[in-house]
Amino acid sequence: MKQIKIIGTGSYLPEKILTNKDLEKMVDTTDEWITKRSGIKERHIAADNQATSDLGLEAAKRAIENAKIDKNTIDCIIFGTVTPDTLFPSTAIYVQKALGLAGVPAFDISAACSGFIYGLAIAQGFINNGSHKRILVLGGETLSKVTNWEDRATCVLFGDGVGAAVVEESNDDSGIVSIYLGGDGNMSNLLYQPAGGSRIPATEESVKNKLHTIHMEGNEVYKHAVNAMAEAAKRALEMAGMTGEDITYFIPHQANIRIIETTAKFVNVPMEKVFVNIDRTANTSAGTIPTALDEMNRKGMLKKGDIILIDAFGAGFSWGAAVIRW
Ligand code: UT7
Repeated sequence: MKQIKIIGTGSYLPEKILTNKDLEKMVDTTDEWITKRSGIKERHIAADNQATSDLGLEAAKRAIENAKIDKNTIDCIIFGTVTPDTLFPSTAIYVQKALGLAGVPAFDISAACSGFIYGLAIAQGFINNGSHKRILVLGGETLSKVTNWEDRATCVLFGDGVGAAVVEESNDDSGIVSIYLGGDGNMSNLLYQPAGGSRIPATEESVKNKLHTIHMEGNEVYKHAVNAMAEAAKRALEMAGMTGEDITYFIPHQANIRIIETTAKFVNVPMEKVFVNIDRTANTSAGTIPTALDEMNRKGMLKKGDIILIDAFGAGFSWGAAVIRW
């Protein structure tokens, strides 16, 4: 099996910042409640004229620049998102067009918060079967566009942002050592956007009832998130023949600081090795891991040989984890 590695990262978070204090003026909530229950202080919000592919394009350009490659050598684009520009065609195809890469296959993956890790797994498969050599994998959202801004239980939790990575076959021992993916459709109604698909097409009624926004049973999702994140991390580590002690950095999905802390404890990684930016970004679904990875990369935190564990859980339910040797 060929090992694939990340040769460049990029990310883009929209300029506008919405703080907990701002939210206090919009719904019956407090900065204290949001901080204590989730760890979030602020989130980035896309402008009215910014769709997910616009954020993706910026992230992609930055990843290409960081990889120091000619963009024309990219031969596939995969975008993990549940907030596509349009239901069809894909968001990836808009990025392809904007990059001037007509002819290159480009498609989305709907795996919610696990979208980036699913994307890496697909890229690994494509590179291994020889069909593609250099793949742009993106993950991220404009969740603000599907948020019910009157529902305090959900509107305080999400943010906008996209991250990207360029991957290709590794020429040394660095790269993705293991990837584990999982899913369970039995609890799909605990976190979903009910309308807008073929089950409930858009009607006046569906819009009036805000069925085109995020619906979540936070408490229930929380319990499953903790278990699935722990299980995924354990499986990815086992597949890599490693334990928590081998980890240089743990980058968990940023949905709730309490979920992050519990998962870190389970995998036996001290909090000093856990990357947390939920306070500044909130939950950007498929965007949390690639934007975190890019932030760390740009800060010079990642050194050759570092062992990084990434781990995500989200709607579906879907989950996944991977061990990367930088
Ligand atoms: O990325 C995909 C995966 N998503 C997740 O992993 C999210 C998982 N869930 C969570 O992170 C947590 O469940 C939440 C942060 C969503 C909620 O935290 P919680 O500790 O589970 O709170 P809760 O839902 O049990 O609500 C506690 C109380 C309730 O009031 P009562 O019934 O005790 O009177 C809520 O109505 O807090 C109330 N509440 C709020 N109060 C102030 C709910 N939202 C708010 C709010 N501000 N924004």
